[in-house]
Amino acid sequence: MKGSAPGKVLLLGEHAVVYGHPALAAALKRRVFVEVEEDRNGPVIELLAPPPTPASPSNSPSPSNSPSTSIQVPPELLHAASDMAAALGAPSAFRAVVRSELPLGGGLGSSAALGVALARAFSQLAARDCPPERAEHLALQLERVFHGAPSGVDPAVCARGGVILFRRGDPAQVDRISPRLPLHLAVVLTGVMRGTRSTVLPLSARRAERPDLYDPLLATLGELARGGAQSLERGDYQDLGVRFDAAHGVLAALGVSCPELEHAVAALRRAGALGAKLTGAGGGGAAIGLARDAAHADALVRAAEREGLRAFAEEISP
Ligand code: PMV
Repeated sequence: MKGSAPGKVLLLGEHAVVYGHPALAAALKRRVFVEVEEDRNGPVIELLAPPPTPASPSNSPSPSNSPSTSIQVPPELLHAASDMAAALGAPSAFRAVVRSELPLGGGLGSSAALGVALARAFSQLAARDCPPERAEHLALQLERVFHGAPSGVDPAVCARGGVILFRRGDPAQVDRISPRLPLHLAVVLTGVMRGTRSTVLPLSARRAERPDLYDPLLATLGELARGGAQSLERGDYQDLGVRFDAAHGVLAALGVSCPELEHAVAALRRAGALGAKLTGAGGGGAAIGLARDAAHADALVRAAEREGLRAFAEEISP
C-alpha cells in the first residue's frame, strides 16, 4: 500500500506563526513516498533520503538525482508510526519503506510529509479513506515527537498541497491562496541539518524575557505574510521580493539565521533575486530566492552552485 506527500517551503511568517500570527506556505513538487505492508517481523521502517551535505562546486547534482542514503530511524519515530497505525486500525506489525526526495532536517517539511504519507499508506492498509484534515491531524501528532509544540503549518500544507495562509488555533484557520502567476523560486540548501526545536525554543526563551522587544518583530513577520498572500493573488512579485528581504532581516534580528544561511541569501541576492530569505526554522536548513521566471530561477540555482551550494529551481503553479 502506497502513500505520498509533498514537502513545503515557508514563503513568509515562520516563527511568527508559533505566536498566533499568519504564515504563508507552499507545497513543493518534491515528495516523500511510503510503501507499507503487513510483516510479522515488524514494526520496521526503512528510510532512504538524499544526503544533506552541499555539493562540490564543480559537480553539483540536484537533490532529485543525487544518490539517496539509508538512514537509521530513531526509536521515537517507530513508536509514533506504530501509534498512527493503531489509530487507523492498520496492523501494528508492518514494514514501511520510505523514500524521500527531500533532505531530512533541511527545513523543507520532510517530517510533516513523512507523517502525511504514512497516514495515507496506513489508511489504505486499513481500507479507510484519509481526507486531508485526517492526514494533517495524524501528521501533526507525529511532528510533536520531533518538534515539541509545532504550530501545525507544515502538516497543513503537506496534506492540502498548493499555497495556504495558515493561522494556528483550535481549529486552525487555513485559507487557500491562488497565485495569479506561476511563482519561480530557487531553493538553496545549506547542508546544515538541525531540528526545529533548536531555534524555536531559544527564541521562545528570549521572547519570554523581553516581550516588549520581540512581540512587535513577530507581529511584523505576520503582517509581511498577510500582505504576501495579497502580492501572490495580484501577481506582484516585486512586492513579494521586498517582503522576503524584510522578513529575512527580521528573522536575522530574532537570532534564527546562521553564517551558512547568510552566505546562501547573499549569493541569491548577488545573482539578482527579487528577494531572498531563510525558509523554515533557520539555524541551517534552506534559503529561498524569488526569480522573475523559470530561466531566472535556473540562473539563481547555477549562481548558488558556483558558490559550492546545492540548489534546485521550483515552480509553484497557480
Ligand atoms: O520545521 P521547519 O523548518 O519547517 O519550521 C517550521 C516553522 C516554524 O514556524 C519555525 C515552527 C512552527 O512550528 O511553525
